[in-house]
Amino acid sequence: MSAVRVGIVGLGNVGSGTLRLLHGNAGQIASKLGFPLEVSAVCSRGVLASPPEAVSLHPAASRTANWKELVNSPDVDLVAELVGGTGVARKIVESAIDAGKPVITANKELMAEHGATILARARKRGAWVGLEASVAGGIPVLTALREGIAGDGIDTLIGILNGTSNYILTEIERTGAAFESVLRAAQDLGYAEADPSADIDGYDARSKLAILAALAFGVEVAPRQIPVEGIRRIRTIDFAYAGRLGHTIRLLATARQEPEGLRLAVRPSLVGVNTVLSGVIGSYNALWVHGQGGDTFYYGKGAGPAPTGVAVVSDLMAAARDLKTSGSQSAPPFGHVSLKPHAPVPGGTEVHQFYLRFRVRDRPGILASLTAALADQGVSVEAVLQEPHFDREDLPFVTTLEPTTRQALDSALDAMRGSDFLVDEPLAMPLEPTLMTS
Ligand SMILES: NC(=O)c1ccc[n+]([C@@H]2O[C@H](COP(=O)([O-])OP(=O)(O)OC[C@H]3O[C@@H](n4cnc5c(N)ncnc54)[C@H](OP(=O)(O)O)[C@@H]3O)[C@@H](O)[C@H]2O)c1
Repeated sequence: MSAVRVGIVGLGNVGSGTLRLLHGNAGQIASKLGFPLEVSAVCSRGVLASPPEAVSLHPAASRTANWKELVNSPDVDLVAELVGGTGVARKIVESAIDAGKPVITANKELMAEHGATILARARKRGAWVGLEASVAGGIPVLTALREGIAGDGIDTLIGILNGTSNYILTEIERTGAAFESVLRAAQDLGYAEADPSADIDGYDARSKLAILAALAFGVEVAPRQIPVEGIRRIRTIDFAYAGRLGHTIRLLATARQEPEGLRLAVRPSLVGVNTVLSGVIGSYNALWVHGQGGDTFYYGKGAGPAPTGVAVVSDLMAAARDLKTSGSQSAPPFGHVSLKPHAPVPGGTEVHQFYLRFRVRDRPGILASLTAALADQGVSVEAVLQEPHFDREDLPFVTTLEPTTRQALDSALDAMRGSDFLVDEPLAMPLEPTLMTS
C-alpha cells in the first residue's frame, strides 16, 4: 500500500522528537499500519538557515519557512502542528481542517481555549483531529477517557499534570532546599522555562484540566472558569509540617461531579503519604480516575521530546489508518459528539479539612487572636503544630482545621489581614480526602 505523507510544522522539542521516532521506528510503524508513514515536508521559520539535526534523518522532506505552503501542499496528507501558542498555531490547525486534512496537535493552550470551536469546524468538514500529546505528554490519558473507559460514568479526576511544578515540589521535599534555589536549578537543567509562570502558577495544569473535563464530563470549560493557585508560596517548612501530619504536598488538578455541578480546581494540596499520588515524584505526571468501574490510575512522563513524540506519532498512525479506511474518526476527539457549556459551581462552598500555616512575630496572645478570628466564622481548630525554630521575628506554625468551607476560611483570613504580628499572609491548603491508597 502506498505511503501516507506527513507534514510537520514546528521543529523544536516535540517536532524533533517526532521526527526521530518516525525515522527510528519506521519499520515497526509500517508493519503495524500495513503501509509506511513518510515525512514529506517540514516547516519552521528557521529551517532553511539552520535545520535541527532531526530534519536530516528525512532527506526527502521538502523544507519551508511558510506553514501555508506546507498545509496546502498536494504532497502532504496529514499535518502536525507542533508550534505552540494560540496565534499562528490556530491558523495552522484551522487551515488544515479547511483543506480537509487530518491534523495532530500537542497544543494544550490552543485546545483548552478554542478546542470546542476547532472541533465543530472539523466535524463540519469531516476532518480528523488528534490531541493526545496535549495532556500528560507520553501518558495516553485522552485515549483512555475517550475509548478505554468510555463506558464508565466518571465522578472524579485528580491529576498531577505539570511536571515542572511536581519536580520543584518533590526536590524541596527530597533536599530541604528553598523554593527559589530549586526553581533556579530546574531552569538550569531545562526543566523550567526562563519565565516559569505557566508552570508554577498553575496555568498549564489548568489548560490540561479543561481538556480532561471535556473528555470525562462532556463540558466546554474555558480555562479562566477554573480557580487556580500555584506553588510559589510553598516553603521547605511546609513539607516538615505536612510530614508530621502523614501527608506531603502536590499541585493537584481536580474535577468532581457533585450534586451542585462539576467542581474544578488547580491548587497545591496535602495528600496522604500512603496514597498513589504521593509516590509521583520528579517530572512525572499522573491521573487518578474514579467512576462506577472503580479506580484507574495512569502514570508516566508528562513532557519531553520522546514521550510527547510518541503521543504525536501514535495520533499520526491513527489518522493515517483512518485516511486509508473509513475516513471518519471513530470516536470524536473530545469523546462526545458535542460539548455542553460549563456552569461553574460557586467557588469556595465545598467542605474540606485545611492546613493553615502562619508566620508570625512571636508575642503572647497570638494564638488566641487567630483562633478567635476563625471561630467568628464558625471555623474550629483541630490541632496546632510547631516545629522548633529560633527566629522569634519569623516563627512558623501550623493549625489544622476541622472541615469547613473555603469561603468561611477566607472570611476569617480577611479579618486577620493587617494584624501587626503576621509576617506574611497565612497559607491555606486543603487536605485531599478521597485518594486511592497504595
Ligand atoms: N516540550 C514538551 O515537552 C511538550 C510536551 C507536551 C506538549 N508540548 C506542546 O508542544 C508544542 C511545541 O512545544 P515545543 O516544546 O516543541 O516548542 P519549541 O521547542 O519552542 O518549538 C516550537 C517550534 O515552532 C517553530 N515555530 C514558531 N513559530 C513558527 C511559525 N510562525 N511558523 C513555523 N514554525 C514556527 C519554532 O521554530 P522557529 O522559531 O525557527 O520558527 C520551533 O521549531 C507546544 O504547544 C507545547 O505546549 C510540549
